[in-house]
Amino acid sequence: MIIVSSAPESEQIAANEIYKINPSAKFIKRISHGVCLYDVNIDTFFKSAQIKPPIFIRHIMPVDLVLKLPDYAENSPQLLSPPLNGHSGFNFNTSFSPVFERLTSLPFSVQTRIFCRNSALLTPLLVNNDISEFLENSGNILDVKNPQQIISVIITDTDIYAGLSSPEFNMSKWSGGAPMYSKTEPFISRAEFKLTEAMEVFGVSFKKESSALDLGAAPGGWSKILINAGLKVTSVDPAILSEALAGKVTHVKATAQQFFRNISERECKFDVITNDMKIDYNEAIDILFEAEKFLSGKGIIITTFKLPEKNQQKTAYKAVEILAGKYDVKGARRLFHNRSEVCVVLNKKQ
Ligand SMILES: C[S@@+](CC[C@H](N)C(=O)[O-])C[C@H]1O[C@@H](n2cnc3c(N)ncnc32)[C@H](O)[C@@H]1O
Repeated sequence: MIIVSSAPESEQIAANEIYKINPSAKFIKRISHGVCLYDVNIDTFFKSAQIKPPIFIRHIMPVDLVLKLPDYAENSPQLLSPPLNGHSGFNFNTSFSPVFERLTSLPFSVQTRIFCRNSALLTPLLVNNDISEFLENSGNILDVKNPQQIISVIITDTDIYAGLSSPEFNMSKWSGGAPMYSKTEPFISRAEFKLTEAMEVFGVSFKKESSALDLGAAPGGWSKILINAGLKVTSVDPAILSEALAGKVTHVKATAQQFFRNISERECKFDVITNDMKIDYNEAIDILFEAEKFLSGKGIIITTFKLPEKNQQKTAYKAVEILAGKYDVKGARRLFHNRSEVCVVLNKKQ
């Protein structure tokens, strides 16, 4: 079994993606909005997901262990006491052995999500700490920031689900695929988190001194991240940029269409093109087709696509298919920090 997480409003699309990856998958139950339990063969599912990567699924955890909470408490009442003195109240040591036994010597982390209605005192941190402490005492190495194996735990009013997997299997190194970034000063816009998440999810890093073109740049969160990565940035947007960027970027106060009309592809090449313009996805595709001429040989594009209210799945897959005619598509995902949009990463065709 696996537990699949998506944005609550993308739950049905995530289900469609599960059946596309594995037509014999069976829906078992919904744990919360956008968090559903499916019966699949885990190994074949993982292999097939590599070939047909989903866009709307945000996180997958394997279920290696299910503990029924009333039984768990009844058979071993001492195992379940109210969270107290900085502990969760669970004694995981023996009951979690099917998961613990599969741990290797690689650094691990524990990620717990709690969907209980009646247990305000029980927090993910208490559970994470209890399990981590037990495993560290047994010689395992904890690495919360960069785990190579993750114990995922979901606790509901009736069950505890647990599984061990790699961040690649989970599609994220964050609990539930929900990154928690701290704001970097000076904080310009929430959009910053989108680019940070995209770079992390798609494994993008930039060479210092490369040239970047940021389309739809205002107020300037993405431009700030590009500067901080050591890039020389041209920010294109008719709107004004944050004062924090004054003197740090070249601001072209124009639309992307006007900008491309006025530059020469022979003289102007960019190693990185980012696009977060708030425009219809068809228009965005046209602009990205035009942008290809200005992308250097090994250049990369990171772009968002605003999705219409209806037919989001069809639109996202169609946009990716069209772009694949012009670019190598490195990945496409509705990220945690995307609202009604998806993020796509493209490389120049080699
Ligand atoms: C969501 S905001 C971008 C936020 C930005 N990425 C940041 O990190 O601060 C969308 C921007 O797209 C710009 N925009 C819309 N249509 C555009 C076009 N045709 N050319 C350039 N910019 C455009 C808007 O002016 C707006 O500033």
